[in-house]
Amino acid sequence: MDISVMEGATLAADVLGRFQTIAYILAALLFILALAGLSQQKTALRGNTFGIVGMALALVATIAIAIWQSSGVNVVTIGLIAIALVIGGAIGARKALTIPMTGMPELVAMLHSFVGIAAVLVGFNSFIVQPGSLDASNGFHMGEVGLAVFIGAVTFTGSIVAYLKLSAKISGKPLTLPGRNAINLVMLIACIALIVWFVNTIGVEAGLVPLVALTVISLVLGAHLVLAIGGGDMPVVVSMLNSYSGWAAAMAGFTLSNDLLIITGALVGSSGAYLSYIMCQGMNRSFISVILGGFGGTAPAASSSSQVQGDHTETTPQEVAEQLAGSKSVVIVPGYGMAVAQAQFPVAELTRVLAERGVDVKFGIHPVAGRMPGHMNVLLAEAKVPYDDVFEMDEINDDFGNVDTVLVIGANDTVNPAAETEPSSPIAGMPVLRVWEAGKVVVFKRSMGNAGYAGVQNPLFFNENTDMLLGDAKGSVEAILTALRS
Ligand code: TAP
Repeated sequence: MDISVMEGATLAADVLGRFQTIAYILAALLFILALAGLSQQKTALRGNTFGIVGMALALVATIAIAIWQSSGVNVVTIGLIAIALVIGGAIGARKALTIPMTGMPELVAMLHSFVGIAAVLVGFNSFIVQPGSLDASNGFHMGEVGLAVFIGAVTFTGSIVAYLKLSAKISGKPLTLPGRNAINLVMLIACIALIVWFVNTIGVEAGLVPLVALTVISLVLGAHLVLAIGGGDMPVVVSMLNSYSGWAAAMAGFTLSNDLLIITGALVGSSGAYLSYIMCQGMNRSFISVILGGFGGTAPAASSSSQVQGDHTETTPQEVAEQLAGSKSVVIVPGYGMAVAQAQFPVAELTRVLAERGVDVKFGIHPVAGRMPGHMNVLLAEAKVPYDDVFEMDEINDDFGNVDTVLVIGANDTVNPAAETEPSSPIAGMPVLRVWEAGKVVVFKRSMGNAGYAGVQNPLFFNENTDMLLGDAKGSVEAILTALRS
């Protein structure tokens, strides 16, 4: 080769290397800014934009390097990447456009499974390209592959089971096999032993045996871990799998020697773990007991709180409109039912109408209201409710005694006094919004027969100061608006 051509190639490689380093550092910074922005409703949009720009930058840099480094015909590499981008982009865009907000947890669970299987495939590929050898330093590489396959496989089947449970394709009840913790422990020890065996093998043939065995056991472990979890613990499972998918990506980053994947995976892994911790606090569950599963094993009908007997009082939109018109302060507590009914728009309109009449209206949001973290905040933001009117549970829980009227719109478990008063209740100890301390409580739900997510009866409905407004929440709020305007 001509010396000037070689120099040119070296220079181009050098420039591309620097471009990659700068792009990866910038992308990592943008991901950190994205997480910081997403921590608050006011800055969430900006955070999201940072994330999109960071991901676009990371993709461009990675694709540019892959094309530059490809040993085959560049056209083939470009073509393959383009096909993957078009297929992946089309599926992602279609899902993002068609998925309802209520289906978001299922989508997230499904996406985690992709990260898991990607880590497994990257691990296998990395092993076949560079199997175990006599070179001692290769041991690290083999260890990384073993961990990537282990975490990836657990994440893959765990996420698929979470997806099936959340979308009600299989029962949400926990599978409580006798000795399930011992079964998990045996599988975990077997996986550790197989990784040690795998690290000490030489050549593809010898390494494939423990690697395949490790994959199979990890796949079973992931499915069994999540099958054992049920009821109110599902939100924690989704964020825990989010964390696992981050660690799987970080491990894949080690095997690919990709710094950005390591940083991104660690960010997702640690933020997911922290979110799981916060959610455990919100539901008063210990993280370990969530992981070990079994919660919700007592059938809802058998729990003492489901046997609440009593008379409830029904009300009408007209009566609620009068009650609201006569109130000085109103707190709206939304829950999953508001999301199902898509009632956020008339609810936002109701707050505007009441504010015009001089009524002080606030929202009280439980940390696990709905079916995903921040579910209610997203819906209220979509309906343009001012952020300043939205209060977290801890900010508002001591004020209910001074509130004239509380509208509980499609919330149930998150306002259930049994969490405080009944130690035998499956949701005992879960912090709840103490709405019953207000002067009057109006509960919006479709029928008296259905329970909330945890499947337990709610004594709030039978309190003297509680009225039930039965019917679809959207229709009920619209009828109240009509009555207020007439
Ligand atoms: P839930 O306890 O699930 O209760 C929902 C209520 O909405 C029910 O009373 C239901 O009664 C009513 N409802 C449903 N559709 C309605 C409609 N179209 N119109 C009017 N009402 C309707 O809700 P919550 O208080 O928000 O509690 C959330 C629960 O989900 C907690 O147990 C939590 O642990 C769990 N969870 C949370 C998450 C996250 S991260 N937020 C994720 C998964 C699970 P009817 O059916 O009679 O109408």
